[in-house]
Amino acid sequence: MDSLIRPRRIRMTPALRDLTAETRADRSRLIMPHFVVEGDGVRAGIPSMPGICRVSADNLLRDAGRDLGLGVRTVLLFGIPAEKDDSGSFAFDENGVVQKAVRALKKEYPEICVITDVCLCEYMNHGHCGIVRDGKILNDPTLDLLARTALSHAAAGADVVAPSDMMDGRVKAVRSMLDAGGYADLPILSYAAKYASAFYGPFREAAGSAPAFGDRRSYQMDFRNAREAEKEILLDAAEGADMVMVKPALAYLDILRRAREITRLPLCAYNVSGEYSMVKSASAAGYGDEERLVTEIITAMFRAGADFIISYHTRDIFEKGWLEHER
Ligand code: PBG
Repeated sequence: MDSLIRPRRIRMTPALRDLTAETRADRSRLIMPHFVVEGDGVRAGIPSMPGICRVSADNLLRDAGRDLGLGVRTVLLFGIPAEKDDSGSFAFDENGVVQKAVRALKKEYPEICVITDVCLCEYMNHGHCGIVRDGKILNDPTLDLLARTALSHAAAGADVVAPSDMMDGRVKAVRSMLDAGGYADLPILSYAAKYASAFYGPFREAAGSAPAFGDRRSYQMDFRNAREAEKEILLDAAEGADMVMVKPALAYLDILRRAREITRLPLCAYNVSGEYSMVKSASAAGYGDEERLVTEIITAMFRAGADFIISYHTRDIFEKGWLEHER
């Protein structure tokens, strides 16, 4: 055959493949999520997410401190309050579970970058991300509660706030309240294109935030839509988002790619709970090699255009030295 162009030439050795690889999966661009509960000495495993626990603040400090030693510099915190009500009041309580955890974490490890998830679902007795009246999730009355939640996280010392509720106009509401409260320099990472997804199943078990009635399809996006993701991303950018996110990630690589093409903002991919659980259960069953699955999935998210990734695999990746080079 004609041998002018033989793509295999540069695939012949590991060194050549590493040299010519188009994508580098960079560990320093991974974020480790944590679920924080009230109490002391609590460490409760989450059956659907092997390796991930709900921890009280003291154990969070222990885990995040150890992870920091491995190189994990950024964390995302979710709070699971002891009590829930119909206005999510513990979400914006200065002594709420996340606020206390952020203060403790930043005091012990000021160098850790702490991102807080800003949402009400974990704090609402009905499990929805907004105020409910007559079975409807109300948009505008929810905005003030979200903004107050973000402000309370800022006051506790969060480095970044990340609204994940999908109410219209929430980035603007959060931005104005942060600015008015003296936090004009605090960045917002917006869950801009967040889909209503079956991949959040294990998270809802972990956070106890499954909706008591109905589902989240009146506020989270329809997975059939891609142009709409562009609309959401551009809208959040216009409202003042400093970074935008696509969530979930694995079944949404096309959305990540489109997002990369339409915005100059840093782009985050959320490798969500169900994606993690699938890899964990498949590898535990012997259907796949965990390191290779994780490496391929995380690399694909970077290749699609993500600048950084939230992943429950982060600790394993650092601990076990994954993503370093071809093995
Ligand atoms: C809160 C929130 C959810 C996730 C992140 N923030 C759950 C949801 O929207 O139901 C999902 C994270 C995951 O599945 O890992 N609204």
